[in-house]
Amino acid sequence: MAHPKEFAEGLSIGIIMDGNGRWAKKRGLPRTAGHAAGAETFRTIAYRCRDLGIPYLTVYAFSTENWKRPLEEVSAIMKLFGEYLLKGFNYKDRNIRIKFLGDRAALDAKLQKLMNELEEDSAAKTGMTLNIAVNYGGRPEIVRAARQLAQQVAEGTLKPEDITEEMMSDHMYTAGQKDPDFILRPSGEKRLSNFMLWQAAYAELVEMDVLWPDFTRADLDTAIEEFNHRSRRFGGI
Ligand code: FPP
Repeated sequence: MAHPKEFAEGLSIGIIMDGNGRWAKKRGLPRTAGHAAGAETFRTIAYRCRDLGIPYLTVYAFSTENWKRPLEEVSAIMKLFGEYLLKGFNYKDRNIRIKFLGDRAALDAKLQKLMNELEEDSAAKTGMTLNIAVNYGGRPEIVRAARQLAQQVAEGTLKPEDITEEMMSDHMYTAGQKDPDFILRPSGEKRLSNFMLWQAAYAELVEMDVLWPDFTRADLDTAIEEFNHRSRRFGGI
């Protein structure tokens, strides 16, 4: 079998980190323990993607719908973000640029400050772009882009008939980045759940029957192989 690196280089990957709650339940642990374990997996897989030469990785960390969860769980997830962003994630040595997708205005002021600093400090890193979607929804993202373009129309600097798909892409949080080649969803679910709706137009969906905290480097390699298998079968002429 060929080394996965050969097949991974240049790919843009989106991951819906799902199954933390079920993982905890299976062990009789609180859901928050599942998120803590999921955060460890996040780090392992982000580093692995970097090592494989993947230029764009986007992880779905908190959706606009996740606010409906009990306050205790939401607070625990936010606390985990803070901890990992502050000291749990070594982007410097690994040359990783971090970007946050989503509406951060609703987040705790301290967390927002940390997010802004991380984006600024890592802006010149060239090894991999890691997008972390927090308070993110694909539909709100499209609405935001539409509003920005509508504003230009209202100001008379843009004609409606001149609006193109490229312009819409340039007004997404992922402006300038490669669209995902595949979206990976562990835990057996087969939904997009409002993740990268605009960007995923041509993405393959790869779902795997592993809960996110159990997801390993080898599972990532398997997912990449699955993607390559599909694109070999259906791609080109
Ligand atoms: C979905 O699993 C997971 C979340 C809503 C939270 C994801 C958060 C992390 C992995 C924590 C840290 C992330 C970073 C970037 C440091 P679920 O709770 O919906 O699982 P279930 O479907 O089994 O209930």
